[in-house]
Amino acid sequence: MIVVIGSGVAGLCAALAAAGDKRLGGEGLSGTGYAGMIRPDDRAADDVLLVCKDDLMESNTFHAQGGVASAIFGDDAPALHAADTMAAGHGLCDRAAVDVLTDEGARRVRELIAAGWHVDRDSEGNVLRGLEAAHCRSRVVHAGGDATGKVLELDICAMARSNPRITVLEHAFLDDLLIRDGRIAGVRLLTCDGEGDAEARIIGTNRVILATGGAGELYPYTTNPAVATADGLAAALRVGAQVADLEFYQFHPTAMAVGEHFLVSEAVRGEGAVLLDEHGHRFMTDIDPQAELAPRDVVARANFRVMQAQGGKPVMLDMSPMVKRHSDLALFLRRRFPTIDAYTRSLGFDWSKEPIPVAPAAHYWMGGIRTDLFARSSIPGLYAAGECARTGVQGANRLASNSLLEGMVYGYRAGLAAVRDEDDTVWRPQDLINSEIVGLPVAQRPMMLRMPVVQASPDAPGRHHPWNRERIEHEMWRHVGVIRDGDGFDEAANYLSDALAMANDGATCAAMTRNNAERITMLENRNLLTAGYVATIAARNRCESRGAHTRQDYPKRNPTIAHSIAYQLA
Ligand code: SIN
Repeated sequence: MIVVIGSGVAGLCAALAAAGDKRLGGEGLSGTGYAGMIRPDDRAADDVLLVCKDDLMESNTFHAQGGVASAIFGDDAPALHAADTMAAGHGLCDRAAVDVLTDEGARRVRELIAAGWHVDRDSEGNVLRGLEAAHCRSRVVHAGGDATGKVLELDICAMARSNPRITVLEHAFLDDLLIRDGRIAGVRLLTCDGEGDAEARIIGTNRVILATGGAGELYPYTTNPAVATADGLAAALRVGAQVADLEFYQFHPTAMAVGEHFLVSEAVRGEGAVLLDEHGHRFMTDIDPQAELAPRDVVARANFRVMQAQGGKPVMLDMSPMVKRHSDLALFLRRRFPTIDAYTRSLGFDWSKEPIPVAPAAHYWMGGIRTDLFARSSIPGLYAAGECARTGVQGANRLASNSLLEGMVYGYRAGLAAVRDEDDTVWRPQDLINSEIVGLPVAQRPMMLRMPVVQASPDAPGRHHPWNRERIEHEMWRHVGVIRDGDGFDEAANYLSDALAMANDGATCAAMTRNNAERITMLENRNLLTAGYVATIAARNRCESRGAHTRQDYPKRNPTIAHSIAYQLA
């Protein structure tokens, strides 16, 4: 049996690939690894268990708006898409991983459209496309206007549900990964549907694919749903897996500054919206030649700084320049962005007539569980795909609309590899462990962080301070947010390590059993503390500014620093 944890696009594509679903993979792989060696659909697992902690559909994918970038149009090419991805990543993308992303990304998108993904089309049936920041071509495929993730999730969930080899287990929380002799031996799950007693379930398996998404819940302002609590990443850290580049967390420039920090898609700026400060000045033209369509880190930082300068007041997103192309702006906005239109109107804004207040919010983690090109982690039998993984495609700043694409491509590869690796003939985690370490000049070798497990101590100051979600979010936003510095990292690290000591304390955990929902929340908090702590230490060690990691005390880029790789010592 292959166990897949997480039901966003990466988990679903992993499950479909592992189950040998022929609707995916027909266009093959892009010339490395299994390509030419084994046809994608000639082997399959009889039994794939797809585990999710909420309903099957609840995931970051479901809430994604803008779309999926892919070089499927005549004026485009995977190499152009790869060049944009590399440029946005500020020198930390891995070329081979990016080539796989852009080449196989186009193949997976075409296959999914052929399999019935309901993308937006014009009246003649041609697939529509949008422009987003830092792309040299209009290449973002969308669905339902601005409900791309929802439509994608609905369509691929239907594919998974219709595959007899895939069993779906909803409302099951990944408590821990089980390991024997340094290899994956299974998973421990907790039922998490309601207020009753939590029920533990152990599933023995030698192959687990983590597709558990990100950790937006680390921050008070986030575009992510509440399920994004770093569960897979923290579980992987607890069994000693390597993680990489956790200091790079992407803040989206434009979430609604009122209400629930609802995402206002980059595609809105792609259609011509501009950003204004409190005096109505369009500041992005002063900062970057690409103005509002500069890479996401540039725009998020600019918004943050303008907000600081105007005493915390949000910046304003102004749709009025679109009138030049759309004389009935209200109609255009309602048709092109129905979800955002409904949300802004529910808050009392008519965004066709007035600018709306927006601010940066936590959106996407570039770092994650370190994997090779087939989603293999450093622990034999453990794979990771999607936002919880660090494949090397996102670098220091992810290019807009590359995340669903990464989930499709590397989720698919993870499923394929989990089937093929059954007999272990191609499993060489040592290759991964050393791949970024050997062959580089010493000055460019990755920073290796060997982290001791944070132990509970009777005197841990955390015992005397409340630790709860609000406090974690506050520390992370204040000290490991859009703009950071060394003193802030020290403060955050002190708090997080104390709180983590308490969370790791077995006695405290045992006392969590009062009711199911409460217990899950405490375990999620432990996961957030685990991930947040390692991210903070990685950020403290990276003495430069690059991409989404902006330090006031080290404002310049240091070209000699490569990736950071961290793991917990057992
Ligand atoms: C957006 O629609 O702006 C988000 C898309 C993404 O995160 O790539």
